[in-house]
Amino acid sequence: MTKIAFVGLGKIGQTITYSSVIDGIFEEVMLYDIIPELPEKFEHELRHAFATKSIKTEIISSNNIDDIAGADIVVITAGKPRKPGMSRRDLFKDNAKIMIDLASKLPSKNPGAIYVMVTNPVDMMASVFAKYSKEMTISTGDQVETMRMRSFIAKKLHVPVNEVNGYVGGEHGEDAVVLWSTVSVKGKPIDQFNIDKEEVSNYVKQIAGEIIRVMGGTTWGPGTIIGDVIRAIALNENKLMSIATPRVFEGEIIHISVPVIVGRTIGPSIESLLDEKDKWHLTTATKDFYDVYKEMLSSLGEVTLSK
Ligand SMILES: NC(=O)c1ccc[n+]([C@@H]2O[C@H](COP(=O)([O-])OP(=O)(O)OC[C@H]3O[C@@H](n4cnc5c(N)ncnc54)[C@H](O)[C@@H]3O)[C@@H](O)[C@H]2O)c1
Repeated sequence: MTKIAFVGLGKIGQTITYSSVIDGIFEEVMLYDIIPELPEKFEHELRHAFATKSIKTEIISSNNIDDIAGADIVVITAGKPRKPGMSRRDLFKDNAKIMIDLASKLPSKNPGAIYVMVTNPVDMMASVFAKYSKEMTISTGDQVETMRMRSFIAKKLHVPVNEVNGYVGGEHGEDAVVLWSTVSVKGKPIDQFNIDKEEVSNYVKQIAGEIIRVMGGTTWGPGTIIGDVIRAIALNENKLMSIATPRVFEGEIIHISVPVIVGRTIGPSIESLLDEKDKWHLTTATKDFYDVYKEMLSSLGEVTLSK
């Protein structure tokens, strides 16, 4: 059994917590946020939910980060969300400062933990956290886009969603790329179907912004999908998912999503099996990510780790 901590208990933090703990797979759940009483009241909510499902998982909640200790998995959703019209990258400066602060506080109390980054811009936040903490950090990356892509194709072609396979890779957000060489319907390559690829790509990139415009934030989709990523790690399911693991490019740790086996350990990826076009897209995404990330990092100026 595994101990899991949730750092940040806003809209997406609560949804991910619920979807990943409600099956009772964890020994202990730790809840942390800076808003007074929020962790404690959310603990009550979860206890009520656990009572009806006869779940014995222990819950602790706190506004003191030092109480987050001994976790095997730490899920980070702390930070600012987008407002309508904003890009994820607009959040870089504010949220990077939070990551640098968390990177100075969480590792010493949670040795050997795997960190699951959700805060946006998620791939860059994973890179920042990994850079400053030196801990194993993954970004939930494009698994969210992957499920958005599958759901859209299923709806368009009037097929059950479990008949659609395939992955989206690259950076989470506006630069995500559908890895068309992986996409199939009922076991047949997507090129055998009448589907407008540009329409699919646009949907994958734009639907989150549209949901935010009307609903104020995305919750149920990513909450369920990221819950599944966490479950794959906790239960060592070894599922193929499009998440981003740390890779070194030009001497810097960066995160770019590719389909990779997710379990207690992460890897190998199926990158080498992609066709040349998809590989080219990923190489371009990696370079673009690096260029923007370096610029963003330098915009942070002198940030010192508080010990
Ligand atoms: N990767 C994804 O697919 C995905 C999906 C949805 C949201 N997000 C991102 O997740 C983040 C949170 O989104 P939200 O909608 O839950 O926002 P929210 O405003 O509802 O919640 C954010 C929470 O973070 C807390 N917080 C801020 N600083 C903190 C700190 N230093 N330590 C602990 N907690 C802190 C806040 O008090 C708040 O409760 C945003 O950056 C958003 O863009 C990512």
